[in-house]
Amino acid sequence: MSITKVFAPAKVNLTLHVTGQRRDGYHLLDSLVVFADVGDRITVMPADQNRLEVIGPRAKGVPTDGTNLVARAANLFGVPVHIVLSKHLPAAAGIGGGSSDAAATILALSDMVGDTRLPEGVADLGADVRVCLMRQAARMRGIGEDVAPCPGLPPLYAVLANPGVDVPTPEVFQALENKQNQPLPKRIPQGMKTGPFIDWLATQRNDLEAPAIARSPVIQEVLKTLSDLPGVRLARMSGSGATCFALFETEDAAQAGATALTQSQPDWWVEAAKLS
Ligand code: C5P
Repeated sequence: MSITKVFAPAKVNLTLHVTGQRRDGYHLLDSLVVFADVGDRITVMPADQNRLEVIGPRAKGVPTDGTNLVARAANLFGVPVHIVLSKHLPAAAGIGGGSSDAAATILALSDMVGDTRLPEGVADLGADVRVCLMRQAARMRGIGEDVAPCPGLPPLYAVLANPGVDVPTPEVFQALENKQNQPLPKRIPQGMKTGPFIDWLATQRNDLEAPAIARSPVIQEVLKTLSDLPGVRLARMSGSGATCFALFETEDAAQAGATALTQSQPDWWVEAAKLS
């Protein structure tokens, strides 16, 4: 067994429609999910006993004990490993940091033990882990377990921005007043150019935006600030927040937007990213 390194990309919900609620309290979703070229990094090494090290610019406050989703994902395999998690994404931020880390850990350990079958217990790690295992544009339904690849989307250039407030997902779902909203259209448009595709996205929603803003009004400020960047075509929140994204038609426009935002909001986490 050797060292395995896996990238854990940020997940972005381009749309997130809440279409119902199950008896157990979980919400039914219809969400178009893409992945960014920014993310965390996982390194897994064989060891005599389990050890999790968290390093990197966003390591502060991330647990290194058995509560970390990375440790829980590794435990499903029953082989002792030393894992180094390099954190670049903010936690509890609506871009699937923990879920993507867990998915990357599963992929690394599957590779290490030479068995690509998913271990029992993956579903218990969280609703977003399934789509994060897919790591490509996907439509996510059910409570997150029903994922289908969504090919044919154009390249999207984004600025991701997080103002540094943790937003607990359960609170945002609970605060949502109308739990039965329209799903996405039956067919997601394929083969469109970037501009028209963003126009189509603008006709869809993130139903969690309003309850997240009610809890953390700074999210409204993030959306307004992103909307004011030159060349921006759409600004929306991802997941249950607080990270928001702005979409541009070109990589240069997104880069310029990220540079301007980093200067005007030095305390925010800001990244230019390609989404696919
Ligand atoms: O599955 P995960 O641990 O990511 O979800 C965190 C919380 O978000 C859940 O305990 C639940 O309160 C809420 N949630 C939900 N419906 C979903 C996903 C999450 O109500 N589809």
